[in-house]
Amino acid sequence: MPTRLALLISGNGSNLQAVIDAIRMRLLDAEIVIVVSNRKEAYGLQRATKAGIPTHYHPLKPYRDAGKDRAAYDTDLANLIARYQPDWIVLAGWMHILSNAFLQRFPYRVINLHPALPGQFPGVNAIERAYEAFQAGQIKKTGVMVHLVPDEEIDSGPILATRDVQIYRTDALETLEQRIHQVEHQVLIEALHRLIEG
Ligand code: GRF
Repeated sequence: MPTRLALLISGNGSNLQAVIDAIRMRLLDAEIVIVVSNRKEAYGLQRATKAGIPTHYHPLKPYRDAGKDRAAYDTDLANLIARYQPDWIVLAGWMHILSNAFLQRFPYRVINLHPALPGQFPGVNAIERAYEAFQAGQIKKTGVMVHLVPDEEIDSGPILATRDVQIYRTDALETLEQRIHQVEHQVLIEALHRLIEG
């Protein structure tokens, strides 16, 4: 039976696409059983639909408007995903911090892709912050990692895969972003392969 993956996205979905393609090329013995986005206009939802994968839009705003807290949002998100009985939950550009209300439903089954090296630039705009640190002579390289998400600590947790990404003097932010995204796609597949093949 192929490993069942739930993917959570918020944007373009290029990492989702990398997983779709890897499965199609039989590089991963897996099946994406659900794609959830917190943003309706996330292009990743169209990528999933084109690939025949069920999608779900789960916005935070209605909870805020109803005075409900993040735990309510995360509990409903976990209930929705649990229905698809995933083996792994993959955060591929999911831009919300998941509370324990979600994480405790899938203990040691949530993995996150982050465009920085372990311990460097946790949180949002990691690529931009790395670029600025390079310009300031503080770092010589950056990287990408996939890690387990055991608790609410942002972008920490046991590392499943990581890879350095060089930064060049001639780089603009866009060229660095492009190089990082290309490496992300490879590192995500490498991490999933390790999880699936054991
Ligand atoms: C990736 O850089 C991911 O690491 C970060 O958000 C971006 C998502 O890119 N958290 P995409 O939506 O997969 O193209």
